[in-house]
Amino acid sequence: MKNFIKINDILDYNNIINQAIELKRDPYKYQNIGHNKTLGLIFFNPSLRTRLSTQKAAIHLGMKTMIMNFNSEGWGLEYENKTIMSGNNSEHVKEAAQVISQYCDIVGIRAFSSLKNKIIDESEKVINSFIKYASIPILNMESSIAHPLQALTDAITIKENIKTSKPKIVLSWAPHPKALPHAVANSFVNMMKVSDYEFVIANPEGYNLNPEITQGIKVIHDQKKAFKNADFIYAKNWSSYDNYGEILIDDNSWLINTEKMKLTNNGKFMHCLPVRRNFVVSDAVLDSNNSLVIQQANNRTYAAQIILKKMISNER
Ligand code: CP
Repeated sequence: MKNFIKINDILDYNNIINQAIELKRDPYKYQNIGHNKTLGLIFFNPSLRTRLSTQKAAIHLGMKTMIMNFNSEGWGLEYENKTIMSGNNSEHVKEAAQVISQYCDIVGIRAFSSLKNKIIDESEKVINSFIKYASIPILNMESSIAHPLQALTDAITIKENIKTSKPKIVLSWAPHPKALPHAVANSFVNMMKVSDYEFVIANPEGYNLNPEITQGIKVIHDQKKAFKNADFIYAKNWSSYDNYGEILIDDNSWLINTEKMKLTNNGKFMHCLPVRRNFVVSDAVLDSNNSLVIQQANNRTYAAQIILKKMISNER
């Protein structure tokens, strides 16, 4: 694997999930594979899990890491070509990507969507510029429209908790006070499309995700109906896709609580974190034995580790 940008960069999903679970049992099995290799981690946005779990994965593989919070520590980057750089941006991504390539063997990039311009966000300007100009492999640590490391983590966590051969999995929209990107939901949908599960998306009217991504997936607008007999509830907020980046409802009717979880088949609760307690999900659900959120956070390490291992060895 050269770059890991989207879920479809994985060839054999079942195999990679099993390999990640094996790594979890023996994290230092490949501790020499990254010897004398450097992983650069470039953040344009905040992170807890991605930042620490990707470092931890690198440590398990014997790699060294270098980390930079680009917005606060780097020069403002210019992305347009043939522009006269008389504004605030001091450095062109063309040089920045090549310079980082001198110091690192792989670079992870986190660059969220602006939620201001759908066309620019869907062009994946930042990560695609790094792919274009860097001479080293690129790891997507959440871009405008995809968070594949999170989706791989979620698939690992589902596999670890599965009780029936074809569980019902519900991706449920949940409220949030701020407009959030679509990346986590998009990648979870893409992961479910290549998994043999019963998969349903529940979201309010006006919150349908990009129809190109949800093509062929059942989408319903009645959350309680969706929850019936579900084995896994994956909660996530996203802003409107049609009214791009907007918040359309400001009530708590889609908050996930014990009453709704009782409709499920003793279902497990999942969320990528960070999560706002009692706005997205009630304390009782998040603190219950059925909550998998900490297990998910732990699995971020092994998702990153199996991907880094494949990038280092250029295998798919
Ligand atoms: N789930 C996730 O990507 O967490 P961070 O934003 O803290 O990295």
